[in-house]
Amino acid sequence: MSRAAVVCGLGAWVPPTVVTNHDLAERLDTTDEWIRTRTGIARRHVIERGQATSDLAVEAGRRALASASDNGTDDDHEVDLVVLATSTPDRPCPGTAPTVAARLGLGAVAAFDVQAVCTGFVYALATAAAMLSAGTARRALVIGADTFSTILDPEDRTTRAIFGDGAGAVVLRSGQAHEPGALLGFDLGSDGTGEDLITVRAGGSRQRSTAEQVHAADHFFTMAGRAVFTQAVLNMSKSAQTLIDRVGWSESGVDRVVAHQANVRILRAVGEQLGLADEQMVIHLDRVGNTVAGSIPLALADAVTAGDLRPGQRVLLTGFGGGLTWGSTALIWPDLTLPAPHAPTLRKEQA
Ligand code: COA
Repeated sequence: MSRAAVVCGLGAWVPPTVVTNHDLAERLDTTDEWIRTRTGIARRHVIERGQATSDLAVEAGRRALASASDNGTDDDHEVDLVVLATSTPDRPCPGTAPTVAARLGLGAVAAFDVQAVCTGFVYALATAAAMLSAGTARRALVIGADTFSTILDPEDRTTRAIFGDGAGAVVLRSGQAHEPGALLGFDLGSDGTGEDLITVRAGGSRQRSTAEQVHAADHFFTMAGRAVFTQAVLNMSKSAQTLIDRVGWSESGVDRVVAHQANVRILRAVGEQLGLADEQMVIHLDRVGNTVAGSIPLALADAVTAGDLRPGQRVLLTGFGGGLTWGSTALIWPDLTLPAPHAPTLRKEQA
């Protein structure tokens, strides 16, 4: 029987500090109405000065590990691989995954970062799944975590409205393809000719960090909103459809799509392209914004908590981001509980 990576734990975390649209409107030339109607976002969470991406990754990772041990049927809970998807590492060098592994007390495990911006979590899943299938690892913690609040231009009303900080994680174990939770396949792609559409120009080897570049604000994140919108709809729809065909779900259908939470209009357009109803598209961005690599696992955790994602449902995950990059995977949702306290993404607090 073919070996597969099986999702057996899920956790998520956002930092407690909330920035609402009204907070932004007090400081920038924007309104709650503009942000809600153009993006679907009402609030986002941000870290405080002194905090970093690893702080969120550790919180999400700890919750995913607890979920895996609560849901486990086997005694072997030892993780031997940590893959962290992030484009806001604690430092440009080294990677942040070893720090996260050490802080979680996982010992001398393999640990490295994957950088595919908003598609990072899907790329990290594909990487870990391949290592499990090859027998290079037996149990992996895969985390998506980003703190875009640290790279946004404080004066940029567009990006400040969209992005929030957050992290989510899953535990993958080595199992069989027929089990619920098995990742059934991947579609991954990129188009580097679009590198300028979503970028931080300075601070890498092409444009090194200098006082001049800081003065020119080249160390801030920039995005060509309209072009990104079109590319996001096009590539997530295409990739999702490719994957649906590959796993043979075309006729039996998809129950839920958990797409990268970029903009509610992007999610609706992707749903429309796939012939799905709005209710089948999981929406979480209203409360957290675009959390980049954290977005898909945060949305998963929220949907499970809300009872919107249930065991046995056919779930498709699809992402799009800087690079440009895109990717999709699919699974039958397993019977997972999330141990309290889970992500404070606040269905209760909102009520
Ligand atoms: N408040 C008020 N006005 C704003 C604003 C804000 N927060 N942000 C932008 N605007 C203005 C623009 O400056 C522009 O003004 P102008 O016409 O005077 O130049 C106007 O709103 C329309 O801008 P436009 O870019 O055409 O709006 P849009 O409907 O395309 O929405 C985005 C803008 C950014 C919300 C949308 O393009 C988007 O979501 N893009 C994808 C972003 C994304 O998902 N990125 C991550 C991908 S992984």
